[in-house]
Amino acid sequence: MRVLGIETSCDDTGVAVYDGGRGLLAHRLYSQITVHEQYGGVVPELAARDHIRKLLPLVREVMQEARTERGDVDGIAYTAGPGLVGALLVGASLGRSLAWSWEVPALGVHHMEGHLLAPMLEPAPPEFPFVALLVSGGHTLLVDVEDLGRYRILGESRDDAVGEAFDKTAKLLGLGYPGGPAIAAAAEEGDAQRFRFPRPMTNRPGLDFSFSGLKTFTRNTVLERTLDPQTLADIACAFQDAAVDTLVIKCRRALQQTGRGRLVVAGGVGANQLLRQRLRDMVAPMGAHVFYPRPELCTDNAAMIAYVGFRRLRAGECDSLQVKVQAKWSLATLKPLGGGR
Ligand code: KG4
Ligand code: ZN
Repeated sequence: MRVLGIETSCDDTGVAVYDGGRGLLAHRLYSQITVHEQYGGVVPELAARDHIRKLLPLVREVMQEARTERGDVDGIAYTAGPGLVGALLVGASLGRSLAWSWEVPALGVHHMEGHLLAPMLEPAPPEFPFVALLVSGGHTLLVDVEDLGRYRILGESRDDAVGEAFDKTAKLLGLGYPGGPAIAAAAEEGDAQRFRFPRPMTNRPGLDFSFSGLKTFTRNTVLERTLDPQTLADIACAFQDAAVDTLVIKCRRALQQTGRGRLVVAGGVGANQLLRQRLRDMVAPMGAHVFYPRPELCTDNAAMIAYVGFRRLRAGECDSLQVKVQAKWSLATLKPLGGGR
């Protein structure tokens, strides 16, 4: 079975072709960074308009690269939420329409389920069950994954997502957008000993997160001094240290609480090298293992959407002709494989 995947939930236009027998045949991403960077964040209306411009040409390119004709496609999967409604509608409308005209089934996929299962595209994928840390610009979630579609939310952010905290801190420091890579780069020149920022909600039980306090602490630190290049690097370093430490502490707790021996890390912040290194150091003495998708599959991409689509379409799931997207959509409401929606 061969599935065309489409991702347009935020500021990346993604298209991929996944084949059940041969794996990922092609995937490409067109990033809208240049459209949004002057605003320091994603402008939803501009995102939707740019998806309209880029999506169809990208579908053509990726299908060509995957040596796939329309008659070879057995199903189409598109991100149906959570995300920006206007942006989601572009991918959903095109995906649904192509499926109708090519007479194949179509399925709306949950963006976070895509992130969660992205490591399955790697040569040594994790086995179920596992704990997943989903860390992106919109989400910070710890999930107990019993099987495909069986998700129990262990903890989530009560305010800002961790990626959002990186983005806002970068903006505050006058660094570029997106903020995660910019903070990580600035932190390399920083002195880790100069400032110590709080690790929010780590000194009380539970697996929820809160990053708005850390953001405020950072802002106050910035306002109290002149921001020379060294101070900027030291603050970026202290912020990254605190954010990463907080995630690592909660992951350790989640593994201990569930007794799982595998941790999957996905979402854009999962590309952070310090996080990767600290998680490796944390799981080693526990005899546990940590799995990451390669960096390009950590951030938004259509390969993960095509993969989830493949698994669910193959199990007989498919959506009606209605084009339906959801800005908010809880992972916990998803059904086990083949269980319908
Ligand atoms: O999953 P993703 O590509 O898009 C969303 O669905 O949100 O995640 C984007 C987020 C942004 O907030 C970005 O700043 C963050 O991931 N990010 C990073 C790094 N690379 C991307 N955060 C920390 N360190 C990084 N290296
Ligand atoms: Zn994402």
